Amino acid sequence: APMLGLVALVAYLVGAVPFGVVIARIFGLGDLRAIGSGNIGATNVLRTGNKLAAFLTLILDAGKGGFAVLVARAFFAEDAAQLAGLAAFVGHIFPVYLGFKGGKGVATFLGTLLALAWPVGLAACAMWLLSAVISRYSSLSALMAAATCPLSMIYFGEGRLIFLGIIFTILIYFRHTPNIKRLKAGTEPKIGKK
Ligand code: G3P
Repeated sequence: APMLGLVALVAYLVGAVPFGVVIARIFGLGDLRAIGSGNIGATNVLRTGNKLAAFLTLILDAGKGGFAVLVARAFFAEDAAQLAGLAAFVGHIFPVYLGFKGGKGVATFLGTLLALAWPVGLAACAMWLLSAVISRYSSLSALMAAATCPLSMIYFGEGRLIFLGIIFTILIYFRHTPNIKRLKAGTEPKIGKK
């Protein structure tokens, strides 16, 4: 049990690294929190027009979730891997490095799922992509991927992950409250638009 606490702490600190903010700074794009939606994720990095910076943010924010899961699984066991995924996800949303004001968790959710159960992760990515191709809304696509995640966990026989899936879904919806308001008002910008 003390070991699990340490796993959670380290995974949290890894998940809390705000790669969007770091990459925007390295690429000379300014303070990401003063751009577009003010969010620290890849969707908002894309609003600067820098596709490479946005892609790197997506990969690194997803990668930190996957990394936390794979390392915890390699050193400990499956319960530690799930805990590490949750802790990394919570770290991205409530990062100690940014006064606990973090992101919406979408990339980290996808990376964590891919590492925990790749069919569930692939299904979430596919749902995001399908919705993005049809709607051109990043936020709506995240909401679609999150909503279907617990269902796909059951479909793929990964019921062991259902508690985690429900927490992911609730937190992603909670973090998209401003996006949901904009979607209803018809003012949500489409992908790549300011
Ligand atoms: O990944 C977060 C996305 O779903 C919404 O981001 O910047 O449009 O609020 P943003």
